[in-house]
Amino acid sequence: MSNAATASIDNAAKSMTDIMALCKRRGFIFQASEIYGGVNGFWDYGPQGAQLKKNLRDAWWNDCVTNPPIGPDGDEVSIVGLDSCIIQNPKVWEASGHVGGFSDPMVDCRETKNRYRADHLMCICEDGDREGLIFAYLEGDDDSIAQTRKKLDKYKKRIIEDDKLCTCAFLELSANERAITVGPDVKIPGTLTEPRDFNLMFPTILGATGDWEENKAYLRPETAQGIFINYKNVLDSTRVKVPFGIAQTGKAFRNEVTPRNFTFRSREFEQMEIEFFCHPDESQKWYEFWRDLRMRWWESLGLAGDNLLLREHDKDELAHYAKTGAGTSDIEYRFPFTAPGFGELEGVADRSNYDLKQHAEHGNTKLEYFDQERNERYLPNVIEPSAGLDRGVLALICEAFTPDPDRPSKVFMKFNPRIAPTKAAVFPLVKKDGMPEIGKKLQTQLRKRFGAVEFDAKQSIGKRYARMDEVGCPYCFTIDGDTLTDQTVTVRDRDTLSQERIALDQVEGFLAEKLGA
Ligand code: GAP
Repeated sequence: MSNAATASIDNAAKSMTDIMALCKRRGFIFQASEIYGGVNGFWDYGPQGAQLKKNLRDAWWNDCVTNPPIGPDGDEVSIVGLDSCIIQNPKVWEASGHVGGFSDPMVDCRETKNRYRADHLMCICEDGDREGLIFAYLEGDDDSIAQTRKKLDKYKKRIIEDDKLCTCAFLELSANERAITVGPDVKIPGTLTEPRDFNLMFPTILGATGDWEENKAYLRPETAQGIFINYKNVLDSTRVKVPFGIAQTGKAFRNEVTPRNFTFRSREFEQMEIEFFCHPDESQKWYEFWRDLRMRWWESLGLAGDNLLLREHDKDELAHYAKTGAGTSDIEYRFPFTAPGFGELEGVADRSNYDLKQHAEHGNTKLEYFDQERNERYLPNVIEPSAGLDRGVLALICEAFTPDPDRPSKVFMKFNPRIAPTKAAVFPLVKKDGMPEIGKKLQTQLRKRFGAVEFDAKQSIGKRYARMDEVGCPYCFTIDGDTLTDQTVTVRDRDTLSQERIALDQVEGFLAEKLGA
């Protein structure tokens, strides 16, 4: 392998344009409704992407539910699975606070008709004089930020010279301070509206008759509430006892004001959430346990080193449900578009008993737990590790993307074998002398045990290796003339590019050892 491939690659140097091009070229991720011009904030997963996403979801389910971790007291943690509906009774979202408070402040540009999140408008140049503050939309790559800065420097002079402050939109800074806002794409300042709250839930209507308000329901904005409203059902139908967790993966929908950065902020995405119910006195212990365990889990999949960060929230950042809890932390990844900064991958929060309390009140039902060991009745506290599946996939793709000018493909995807979408490939060197038949037989044998194993007999062997490098296939096995005489095959290692010969009947054992399967 060349030096370029062995050196750890700074994520800031990775190009999102190149990563997105590879995702499309090799069938990881496509723009949704592409032939109709796309639809903003929605993405489809191609054959490689769907398998990668499934592998990540399966790894999570396996490590949380099927083979649960050992808890802080040395016992296996008790966790069960759930699959609740995307649409629930709308009262669920009133009780959870989503109808009243799940909103972003939104600002429109009257000139370009673009919409921005007000909390993404940042001060980029200060003037000493409060009235000279200029706010601009600062997401984007370095070039576009530099251009915006330049444009705003010009405006700054004009605004102050032409005394145009009164024509600009204003953002509240504090009780009596205000600042002008300037959109990124405008030719003149003062085109932004005042911020207004915009609810992120997607409304829909149930049934064919009746009026909108009466029959209005919502697509769930998080999977968590489906768990809270089934907490009692799970307790009553299984043998679980507090402390225990309920795990669920599934789609969530948010009408994001500004979907962007590939799949990072989408309007339809998938979450992997655990609500872990414990005695209030044990919140701190379980919070720390889950926070540290989840960080180690992402590390085990290859997101280690400088690109992964555990960030404890400051008190003033805490969500309404977490104000009194043991804490909230984010596991953050340094995506190429956030570098040198980080973007959230998973949040671990002590939600206190907020949600159960709300559902007990709004649903007029008793959700208290009777703890026989303590002889005590209480509403459990909840520790919530909440991860984004699509963000996880994106982080794994960004981490795996490894430019290597010495390879024919110029890039390869260095996925951890556990989550690699294609586990192995079998190539007959030529389409004759019985090589395709031996190859097909080997593919069938390997597929039964390892899942996605490709068979490819087209094009030159170099081109076939290049294709497999771009999908991140860890091992390729080639059937050639020697196989016919001595029953051996060539195995090529994706990362080291080394090739060795092993016996045909040892391929399965070789792969099992390498993949840890
Ligand atoms: N139940 C808690 C909850 O939903 P959240 O921080 O809003 O918390 C959890 O979401 C995770 O879901 C985030 O850490 C992120 O990975 C993912 N996520 C949230 N909004 C997203 C979006 N618009 N697009 C993709 N992933 C998103």
